[in-house]
Amino acid sequence: MANYTVPHRAVLPNGLQPGSVIRVRGTVPANGNRFHVNLLCSEGSGADTALHCNPRLDSGEMVFNAFQEGAWGREERSPSVPFQRGQPFDLLIIVADDAYKAVAGDAVFHRFVHRLPLQLVRVLEVGGDVQLQSVTIL
Ligand code: GAL
Repeated sequence: MANYTVPHRAVLPNGLQPGSVIRVRGTVPANGNRFHVNLLCSEGSGADTALHCNPRLDSGEMVFNAFQEGAWGREERSPSVPFQRGQPFDLLIIVADDAYKAVAGDAVFHRFVHRLPLQLVRVLEVGGDVQLQSVTIL
């Protein structure tokens, strides 16, 4: 099983296009609470974030947001986390023209309508309480 160090950061030389799929495979450790998948618009600290996808096992919800000009925007919440501590998960983020679609198991559990133009995304980052098996752009 491949193991990625956390935080994992990957510069996306070709950015993302509608139809791109980000696949994150990993496990939240038994004592873990939160991790995030971020799509950042630059490499520096405090970067605008087009998508922050934040499974919170401590509160049993998924929080989605964007970070622009130094501030978080309005949170969108999905009222459950579609995986469990200690169990491997497959989280897909499907990039569409109008939104990011978060998929786990057989279901799209959240659509996050773009707030920042897709063309601005430069970096994929996964961090927090997660053991990463793989992070792939399909
Ligand atoms: C904050 C949290 C950040 C981020 C943000 C999303 O409360 O500290 O890490 O998750 O919510 O809105």
